[in-house]
Amino acid sequence: LREKYLALIARAEDEATLETLRVQAIGKKGEVSLAMRELGRMSPEERQVAGPKLNALKSEITAALTAKKAGLADAALDARLRTEWLDVTLPGRPRPAGTIHPISQVTEEVTAIFADMGFSVAEGPQVESDWYNFDALNIPGHHPARAEMDTFYMARADGDDRPPHVLRTHTSPVQIRHLEAHGAPCRIIAPGRVYRADYDQTHTPMFNQIEGLAIDRDISMANLKWVLEEFAAALFEVDQVEVRFRASHFPFTEPSAEIDFRCSWVDGQLRLGEGDDWLEAGGSGMVHPKVLAAAGIDPDVWQGFAFGLGIDRLAMLKYGIPDLRAFFDSDQRWLRHYGFSA
Ligand code: PHE
Repeated sequence: LREKYLALIARAEDEATLETLRVQAIGKKGEVSLAMRELGRMSPEERQVAGPKLNALKSEITAALTAKKAGLADAALDARLRTEWLDVTLPGRPRPAGTIHPISQVTEEVTAIFADMGFSVAEGPQVESDWYNFDALNIPGHHPARAEMDTFYMARADGDDRPPHVLRTHTSPVQIRHLEAHGAPCRIIAPGRVYRADYDQTHTPMFNQIEGLAIDRDISMANLKWVLEEFAAALFEVDQVEVRFRASHFPFTEPSAEIDFRCSWVDGQLRLGEGDDWLEAGGSGMVHPKVLAAAGIDPDVWQGFAFGLGIDRLAMLKYGIPDLRAFFDSDQRWLRHYGFSA
């Protein structure tokens, strides 16, 4: 029995064979186990001789099985190591990493600057109703501002004569949506995409604005001016920027003012805060009482300012990007050059 099993175990080539041999030898009905059962029928003298022998045999077979099993595992590992080796000194394959678009970068910076001044972010839809984009902002149907805005209109079903929805022409409708939903007082900015049918070096049919709105009981143009000065100084990383208000007209503000930042151009590079030039940054004013009323706010109690800045323009100026159209071409080389690593 001993010779037979030790030889078979030595010759086994895989774990399955070893398992079969284990069952045949020392399993419940294995040859060694059966022989052990015979012990009961032996005389005490015979048992004293045969018992230890069988026990020793069982141990020897168990040990042989374990040793062989370990041997097979080692051999298998060796074989794998020989075929599946990995050269850890090979250089890795480079994975192209994306970059953060300058518009996203500036939007984040602008948002952070206004957040420091207590403004939170509000959003509205890009497909907007005629009411929010125009009427609620005191731009009635016949108003010339509608024609000036080069609006994209959505199609309506045949026979549906309600005013068509539009691609929002500015972020100002978010003023109404926010006031309706949250009431006064409020202090928000609303960055986002806006659309106008216009295309040249400084105009694209889709561009980005950032709306600002602050409503409280005693907010004035002076507060607006301070907020814009703080904002420009922070964005362009200079100590101080002078803001100039130029009288203007928007249906949704009264009085209204264009926002200019004092600047100079040195070798084609913009310098903010110094010089004799003025940079046009956007529109602003005190929110018109009719606009407050349209949003369900009592104009006898509440007042405040609003402004709208062109984000793309700020990005062009801050990063010295000459052509607005390049922002939206998705040219990989351009994106790698002007993009920011994550
Ligand atoms: N909505 C105006 C525009 O698109 C900008 C603006 C916003 C003006 C808020 C005044 C107040 O040009």
